[in-house]
Amino acid sequence: MRVGILGTGAMARALGGGWVRAGHEVLVGGRDPERTAALAASTGARPGTLAEAARFGDATLPALPYDAVLPALGSVGPVDSFGGRILIDCTNAVGPGPVLTTGEGPGAARTLAAATGARVVKAFNHVTPAVWSRTPPVFADGPVAVPLCGDDEEALALVSTLAADLGCAPFVAGPLAHADLLEATTAFLIGLWTSGRDPRAMLPPPAALGG
Ligand SMILES: NC(=O)c1ccc[n+]([C@@H]2O[C@H](COP(=O)([O-])OP(=O)(O)OC[C@H]3O[C@@H](n4cnc5c(N)ncnc54)[C@H](OP(=O)(O)O)[C@@H]3O)[C@@H](O)[C@H]2O)c1
Repeated sequence: MRVGILGTGAMARALGGGWVRAGHEVLVGGRDPERTAALAASTGARPGTLAEAARFGDATLPALPYDAVLPALGSVGPVDSFGGRILIDCTNAVGPGPVLTTGEGPGAARTLAAATGARVVKAFNHVTPAVWSRTPPVFADGPVAVPLCGDDEEALALVSTLAADLGCAPFVAGPLAHADLLEATTAFLIGLWTSGRDPRAMLPPPAALGG
């Protein structure tokens, strides 16, 4: 598969590096050519510009702060020129609190889909690059599960393959509308993790939940 990644930070490194190791062709594009070249050299990805990454291959991962995604795509061309393209949304629009900076309206993934017309799949936002860069991301309970939210079967299948190729266990968690729930859940988890709590402690085995 061929994947374009916008950004040269921690998520670009973790996911891009993993996909290169799995045999995929990855082009990373950042706003700083030196950082882009360094990331490409250390991961085996191809270096490029933001514009090249945005339109490269089968799917685009904007590994950018949420607020930077539409401006970055808009700097490449009209945002609706990404209509139909597979866009993997890993962003967390989360501010201190934590609060969702998207407020009560549509969340990040739905906003990106509405603005671009892209086939957006929400994925990879719920844990940190330290997890995605493990080889493989497997713990005592097995591979890390990756919830995917999206409306397009082909896009969900593609992102599912990319997650499985990292050594994770992807599953379709619902339509894109459910990305709002995943984004809110992740904000809640961030609050627990940053206050030193283990969210797993609040989750009994499903069999214990009764009818
Ligand atoms: N870190 C996490 O734990 C985590 C987990 C899951 C999801 N996410 C999400 O993944 C996305 C990327 O996070 P990250 O941890 O990789 O962040 P990061 O390490 O800070 O990297 C951010 C990247 O975005 C670029 N960037 C920032 N503003 C930009 C702009 N206006 N135009 C173009 N490029 C811009 C930065 O470029 P420069 O280097 O030039 O500044 C950098 O390459 C975010 O949406 C975040 O919420 C993060």
